[in-house]
Amino acid sequence: MNPAKVRKTYLQFFKQEDHAIIPSAPLVPENDPTTLFTGSGMQPLVPYLLGAKHPLGTKLVNSQKCFRAEDIEEVGDNRHTTFFEMLGNWSLGEYFKEDQLSWVFLLLVDELGLDPRRLYVTVFSGDEKTGIAKDKDSIAIWKKLFLEKGIRAGDVDMQTEERAAELGMGEARIFAFGAKKNWWSRSGVPENMPPGEPGGPDSEIFYEFDMVEHNSVFGKHCHPNCDCGRFMEIGNSVFMEYKKTEDGGFKKLSQQNVDFGGGLERIAAAVANNPDVFCTPLLSGIVEKIERLSGKKYKSKDTVSFRIIADHIRGVMFMIADGVLPSNTERGYFARRLIRRSVRHADILGIKQGKLANLVFPLVQEYGEVYPEVAETKEKIMREIRDEEEKFRVTLKNGLEEFKRVALGKMISGKQAFDLYQSYGMPLDITLELAQERGMAVDQEEFKKLFNEHRNLSRTASSGMFKGGLADHSEETTKLHTVHHLLLATLQQVLGKDVRQRGSNITSERLRMDFSFDRKLTQEELVCVENLVNEKIVQELEVVHKEMPKEKAEQMGAEMEFGAKYGSVVSVYIVQDKHGEVFSKEFCGGPHVASTKGMGIFKIIKEEAVSAGVRRIRGKLT
Ligand code: SER
Repeated sequence: MNPAKVRKTYLQFFKQEDHAIIPSAPLVPENDPTTLFTGSGMQPLVPYLLGAKHPLGTKLVNSQKCFRAEDIEEVGDNRHTTFFEMLGNWSLGEYFKEDQLSWVFLLLVDELGLDPRRLYVTVFSGDEKTGIAKDKDSIAIWKKLFLEKGIRAGDVDMQTEERAAELGMGEARIFAFGAKKNWWSRSGVPENMPPGEPGGPDSEIFYEFDMVEHNSVFGKHCHPNCDCGRFMEIGNSVFMEYKKTEDGGFKKLSQQNVDFGGGLERIAAAVANNPDVFCTPLLSGIVEKIERLSGKKYKSKDTVSFRIIADHIRGVMFMIADGVLPSNTERGYFARRLIRRSVRHADILGIKQGKLANLVFPLVQEYGEVYPEVAETKEKIMREIRDEEEKFRVTLKNGLEEFKRVALGKMISGKQAFDLYQSYGMPLDITLELAQERGMAVDQEEFKKLFNEHRNLSRTASSGMFKGGLADHSEETTKLHTVHHLLLATLQQVLGKDVRQRGSNITSERLRMDFSFDRKLTQEELVCVENLVNEKIVQELEVVHKEMPKEKAEQMGAEMEFGAKYGSVVSVYIVQDKHGEVFSKEFCGGPHVASTKGMGIFKIIKEEAVSAGVRRIRGKLT
């Protein structure tokens, strides 16, 4: 049974039990400022779990697109992914434990064909701090359900993972654990829940892959919550009947809810009795395409790179389809990070530049019918991946060379990591990954210190430097900021060395520069300025950042804005060609692009007078 059939079977099963099928909410939460991405099926339903009336009734089911940014670092093993689909069903004050556990068990065993002897469950062992009791009801229900399949299921109270690893599972099938494992809320354990947040005890179902041998690195004995990979969680029924109060206690909600969530890729892996979710048809198409593009095999020393690319490209495809574009802030930052990390692993596998975007084809084939938005935005998704790849390949190439140059001992200093970031555009997580692969460490403390110092310095420098300054640090604004430097140097070349900057204001749409000059520019001069800026852009100049004592910057003739105040250590940006021929150098706090490559074409929109002796140019990139 393939995943598409699993998804359909699940929805149909609950539909027959009078559940309304609701569509997947977008990955970008609609009215929920508390989180960047939808990370579970219940998230869009919180108001209804708290008691609001849902238009489609009190029994709901769906398959929800989810993205969990916190799992990025986990991707690489056989079961973690950042994007996944959660099969979910909900009782809004309608049915409770008995119906829920029976339905899920019958679905898994009778409909999806899982061997009940491979299923193990956990329940809540009670919690002294909150005074919420052990979930004996669920234990009794599970015993009955297993017995109906001819299995005598024993139960044991483990409390913690440590104890479970110490004791081993013996003959038991039902395991009670404390709040760390068997309590669910959006913020985790009861202590972490803010007032008003709903939560409750849960009961998780695990599938046992008996071909996976326990590895004692993960503890003396194996148990369902062990991380060795023998057991995989495939579903979680939350009995959501509590709400955190203002005084830190708990009270019952007005209704007893059920919130079930099960990862489609994991259930599909259990159905295939193969613990590798990347081998399910959800991801096997893209994995095969990576094999074709790279000429390498998935089952090889390169498996981790395959998994990272497959997961990340799928994640970013769904993000872009829901309107998230790569950028430096918030959600866009994750889209960017997913693409950049994919580029790095594509580079490892020897996949040629420009090919990464083609990985979208098998994914659209797998998902296009159920999630039409990915089919509809396919071109845009591919374009974004291609553009981002093009920019990052340059950074990666230079950054890798620099990394190899500095990676000599056992340690990358914070300063080295910071220079890689600042001057070469290498994101810290890629430096960390590179270091890890060579058994080296990175002084992250020092990196953070330098990062923060620089940020403060940038603020000081840019508050002195710009009247109005940069509207934001988006990609477009950053490009225009670099163009601003090119423009000033060009004006000095075309109109004379004594042209000085008098003010600037940059948004993602356009730049505005005020400069000293005593007459209107002629048409020829304007064309000449435009041409020279564009000539510099196509020369693919590099932008180098340096910090130095103010005296030194003055000595080297770095441009400073008239009337601006600077500290004793200043930040200077130098735009130069690959032979080190300098075109522009300015006191400036950044940020800038690493290279002028592919920035677009500069156009002057308007040239006008501001006051006596001061002119203003507005320009944009097309
Ligand atoms: N909200 C629960 C989870 O994410 C069940 O849907 O596990």
